[in-house]
Amino acid sequence: MSTAATTTIIGLLFLIGVGAESPYRFFEWHVTYGQISPLGVEQQFPGPDIHSVTNDNLIINVFNHLDEPFLISWSGIINAKNSFQDGVYGTTCPIPPGKNYTYAVQVKDQIGSFYYFPSLGFHKAAGGFGGIRIYSRPSIPVPFPPPADDYTLLIGDWFKTNHKELRATLDNGGKLPLPDGILINGRSSGAVLNIEPGKTYRLRISNVGLQNSLNLRIQNHSMKLVEVEGRHTLHTVFSSLDVHVGQSYSVLVTADQPAKDYHVVVSTRFTSKILTTTGVLHYRDSTVTVSGPIPDGPTTLRWSFAQARAMRTNLTASGARPNPQGTYHYGMVNITRWIRLANSAGLIKGKQRYAVNGASFYPADTPLKLADYFKIDGVYKPGSISDQPIKGEMFPVTSVMQTDYRAFVEVVFENREDIVQSWHLNGDSFFVVGMELGKWSPASRKAYNLNDAISRCTVQVYPRSWTAIYVSMDNVGMWNLRSELWERQYLGQQLYIRVYTNSTSLKDEYLIPKNALLCGRASGRHTALL
Ligand SMILES: *[C@@H]1O[C@H](CO)[C@@H](O)[C@H](O)[C@H]1NC(C)=O
Ligand SMILES: *[C@@H]1O[C@H](CO)[C@@H](O)[C@H](O)[C@H]1NC(C)=O
Ligand SMILES: *[C@@H]1O[C@H](CO)[C@@H](O)[C@H](O)[C@H]1NC(C)=O
Ligand SMILES: *[C@@H]1O[C@H](CO)[C@@H](O)[C@H](O)[C@H]1NC(C)=O
Ligand SMILES: *[C@@H]1O[C@H](CO)[C@@H](O)[C@H](O)[C@H]1NC(C)=O
Repeated sequence: MSTAATTTIIGLLFLIGVGAESPYRFFEWHVTYGQISPLGVEQQFPGPDIHSVTNDNLIINVFNHLDEPFLISWSGIINAKNSFQDGVYGTTCPIPPGKNYTYAVQVKDQIGSFYYFPSLGFHKAAGGFGGIRIYSRPSIPVPFPPPADDYTLLIGDWFKTNHKELRATLDNGGKLPLPDGILINGRSSGAVLNIEPGKTYRLRISNVGLQNSLNLRIQNHSMKLVEVEGRHTLHTVFSSLDVHVGQSYSVLVTADQPAKDYHVVVSTRFTSKILTTTGVLHYRDSTVTVSGPIPDGPTTLRWSFAQARAMRTNLTASGARPNPQGTYHYGMVNITRWIRLANSAGLIKGKQRYAVNGASFYPADTPLKLADYFKIDGVYKPGSISDQPIKGEMFPVTSVMQTDYRAFVEVVFENREDIVQSWHLNGDSFFVVGMELGKWSPASRKAYNLNDAISRCTVQVYPRSWTAIYVSMDNVGMWNLRSELWERQYLGQQLYIRVYTNSTSLKDEYLIPKNALLCGRASGRHTALL
């Protein structure tokens, strides 16, 4: 049996600059491979959690000790006016082996639970991810009492095969195998959550896996949903929670049962063979080990739709700012553009590929954002992907869709396949106004939630279903819209949205960072412009 080379991030927090309005937090990370038996012994990952407060500046110096180029991206961090720091192929040059790059990421006007992950190649299959928390500023009320403790739960499917082998399989035209198991915080079994009787805990849950929707539940304990990707929700109580690939949630769990140990269960959804892993919810001083059957998860699609629709914004609660979340009436803004995006799978030149509206994304030789910044022609063409699904064969292209700055866009994700799709947008969050089984039609708009929909950055589209979102394109830059199913992302199911203005004001977009790495046709351009 092969052991996987697991990406390990060794983190050092070396200073917090306080006193200023928006403090600086400095981190130094060293990314290395750890030889770890992936389904068994104790693991060195996830990486360190980032704890921050709204508007903090995170200065993260990442040293790449791997034998391949490396980038970290920040799932759900908006990076306002600053797509240069987004850490994906289309915005940021990779950190070469042996080199470092210092990210400067401001968590401007944000609260909530997110995570970071390695974005290049198939590094995500080797770990290297960690949680990001953005706490509310002390003056801003949080709509639930402070929990006794706060735990990050990173859950995901896991492949024993090394990330290079997985990538080679895809490069050679194949597909990913089925996962070998599920990990909770890097462990295939025995993850422990310690609690004290009578107290309430916050769990911040993210699905950092590659392919599978997961269901999380705790034996004999219910979960009260309080936050979805930076939005405070109505306090709905669930017996279990579906977490699709790339999504993040906060729930409260109260230790209100007899003091013993209970199963924490994570299992795959919508798979013919269900993979399950368990951890332990351990009451302090309990000597009674877990007993009783592992509680069953939901089995129907109907259950999942109902749960998704029950997630609502608490309009009167504060978000990152003191004014209530409901003061922006997204349902009353006029739509300036209507886009439908349909995912598909097929072959190009005999190799497995995936596409959006027929366009299967291939990277260019230069990050798209840098091509824009340095006005390098011929790297990509805005409008190279259609606003509407097309008939005909899928085709290879460096897909970029252009929108006007401040356009207010309705996007309908159409999934005619039998998989659960999960779409993620960098640089903005969006309102999830509707999702239904079947085909979307203009009449579907009648059932949209135009009042208290959740605003988030990662949304599922159920098999043979659609999901509609509203998004205000208020962040100038180049932003990745991708399938979170990593095989699909890697093999073409992604695009970039170029949010464009002809203004060159720093109020609209920052300059390229002074320490930006340059690559491709942008190599050597630096000093000429700064
Ligand atoms: C690499 O790290 C050094 C400090 O060790 C720092 O001065 C330098 O700016 C970093 N390089 C980049 C490109 O950020
Ligand atoms: C919404 O938030 C407000 C303000 O914190 C709180 O008073 C109210 O109970 C919350 N409503 C629900 C239904 O969760
Ligand atoms: C606790 O959960 C088990 C399933 O694991 C179930 O059989 C039992 O009835 C539950 N007990 C209570 C008190 O809800
Ligand atoms: C939306 O469009 C309608 C009709 O074109 C117009 O009357 C209204 O003022 C617009 N609303 C906003 C907020 O721009
Ligand atoms: C920018 O665009 C606006 C509206 O599209 C136009 O009125 C203006 O002349 C343009 N400015 C420049 C500098 O091109």
